[in-house]
Amino acid sequence: MIGISGASGNLGRLTARGIAEHLGDPSDLVLTTRQPDAVADLVPGAQVRFSDFDDSSSMTEAFEGLDSLLLISSSTVEGRSEQHAAAIDAAVAAGVGHVIYTSMLSPGPTNPALISESHWATEEHLRASDVEHTILRFSLYSDFQVFEAMDALATGRFVHNRGTGGCSYIAREDCARVAAAVLSGGASHRGKTYELTGPESLDAVALAALYSEAGGREVEAVAVDDDEFLRLLGAENAAGNDDGHVQYGVALTVSLGRAIREGHFSAVTTSAEELTGAAPRTVASVLGDSAEMLRAVEPS
Ligand SMILES: NC(=O)c1ccc[n+]([C@@H]2O[C@H](COP(=O)([O-])OP(=O)(O)OC[C@H]3O[C@@H](n4cnc5c(N)ncnc54)[C@H](OP(=O)(O)O)[C@@H]3O)[C@@H](O)[C@H]2O)c1
Repeated sequence: MIGISGASGNLGRLTARGIAEHLGDPSDLVLTTRQPDAVADLVPGAQVRFSDFDDSSSMTEAFEGLDSLLLISSSTVEGRSEQHAAAIDAAVAAGVGHVIYTSMLSPGPTNPALISESHWATEEHLRASDVEHTILRFSLYSDFQVFEAMDALATGRFVHNRGTGGCSYIAREDCARVAAAVLSGGASHRGKTYELTGPESLDAVALAALYSEAGGREVEAVAVDDDEFLRLLGAENAAGNDDGHVQYGVALTVSLGRAIREGHFSAVTTSAEELTGAAPRTVASVLGDSAEMLRAVEPS
């Protein structure tokens, strides 16, 4: 039996639909989530079980009988390392044969991205545990470049703190294809760590050119330092907003820019294609899906 945690999220849904094609009996798929109703019709015949990383006993029950489990990293800001450690411990307690964790490209102590620490702690917990595992280190999703392009097209300026650093964005649907391939691929992936990227590393100037092309309007890349970027993003998001999540989002964006500048997201690998048999999508093609919306952006 194959399980997916966090099945109601975007990656969980795409992976569940992808894996369903490889399964003879849909009841061999177990969708675990905090929101069972939201995935009730996702894969007809699949089992749906409640589980929450903040509730260990829910996980031990939900992971019962699984041969493999895709552990999708949580979107929680605080306490993510502890959540993931609890999920791994529950998988061990439930006797899961193989845990596949969705990590990030080059996590570790030298990566300044705010999300790095919890991914690294989770990887370390997996390596120290008794369970067979596979680590999927995904680069940043290209899907978010659509929102970045909209902002840039509105002002004609793509302001960034990434210097000349590049990022090897990968489409979420390619991440899902990889996850489904590894979930259904069995023992051959055990003990492996895969670095998973899109087909090219793009710096800010290259991205600005793609945004211009997709939106049909000139966009200029404008490099600033971390302090200035923080000031600009803070000012943009400050208006009437003292929500901690918004402030975290600003700090995360600055930290990701710095991580890109320092080269942590620039690696380009062929692993996604090797695992799935399909070439991963370019950022240009992902932007192309939203061409109509990008061309309709009004100058601000
Ligand atoms: N590579 C990137 O650029 C990038 C960007 C954004 C996020 N991510 C990471 O990749 C993950 C999957 O991406 P996505 O696009 O599918 O995110 P998403 O649509 O925002 O989904 C959020 C995910 O977090 C799970 N989650 C939140 N709190 C949880 C809890 N207490 N217990 C168990 N699961 C919990 C949700 O599971 P439920 O079904 O229980 O709701 C869901 O799978 C994200 O959660 C985040 O860690 C990566």
